[in-house]
Amino acid sequence: MAKKKGAALLEISDLDVSYGKAPVVIGASLVVHEGEFHAILGRNGAGKSTMLHAVSGLIAKRGGRVRFDGKDITSSSPEKIVELGLIQVLEGHRIFPSLSLQDNLDVAAYPIRRRGKRVDYERIYRLFPELAAKRNDPASSLSGGQQQILAVGQGILAEPRLLILDEPSGGLAPIVVDRILDVAAQLAHEGAAIILVEQLVEKALRRADTACVMDTGRIVHQGTAEEMASSSVVREIYLGHG
Ligand SMILES: Nc1ncnc2c1ncn2[C@@H]1O[C@H](COP(=O)(O)OP(=O)(O)OP(=O)(O)O)[C@@H](O)[C@H]1O
Ligand SMILES: [Mg+2]
Repeated sequence: MAKKKGAALLEISDLDVSYGKAPVVIGASLVVHEGEFHAILGRNGAGKSTMLHAVSGLIAKRGGRVRFDGKDITSSSPEKIVELGLIQVLEGHRIFPSLSLQDNLDVAAYPIRRRGKRVDYERIYRLFPELAAKRNDPASSLSGGQQQILAVGQGILAEPRLLILDEPSGGLAPIVVDRILDVAAQLAHEGAAIILVEQLVEKALRRADTACVMDTGRIVHQGTAEEMASSSVVREIYLGHG
């Protein structure tokens, strides 16, 4: 799908991240624009999640810079980064087990309500009927998969300017995965940026505009989703990895 490119929203430059002395992300540079759906591919342990956690301010960076909407967020706190509209969906991160599902959505939408904006909860329930059926039940009664969907719903309700989805498919039925990825594509269509890490390469590239491949901490390949779909680098990495 040819789309007009917006302004650069996330700019990662020469990012280095280490666990102790072990470098895990090495000199990563990536730009994602408003309205762009970017897929990050790469085998297990390549450093994808580590890079994104560093971008979200959840782990320290050893070197490099990160800019969001023109602002330097290299040293910003995770709270500050979320406030700017960079939302990373993390498994169970903002789910309060004793609160009802609706109250959990309410918590996620608090920053939006605080700004006096109306929150479209029904949109989430329309997208994910499995949540609608349980809206008054405590989150602790949800299955693992339902909690995962709730976390995605929370991310959407926060009105992200950039939504990061790190392997949202894990443990979910294919039809639910499709719905999540379609919603992500819709958000990109509406002008948000999406970063999706996904092992289901075909599903990811079908919706993405652009993609990159990480291998042992480095971004080794970048291009349009079409280019990546026919790339030998991508084929090599996923050969025998399902
Ligand atoms: N908390 C941690 N402490 C030490 N090493 C870690 C930690 N988390 C991850 N690592 C290591 O860092 C490397 C990158 O891991 P990371 O989780 O970023 O990879 P990934 O590309 O997201 O993999 P996956 O596809 O399995 O999610 C791996 O070698 C991993 O073992
Ligand atoms: Mg990961």
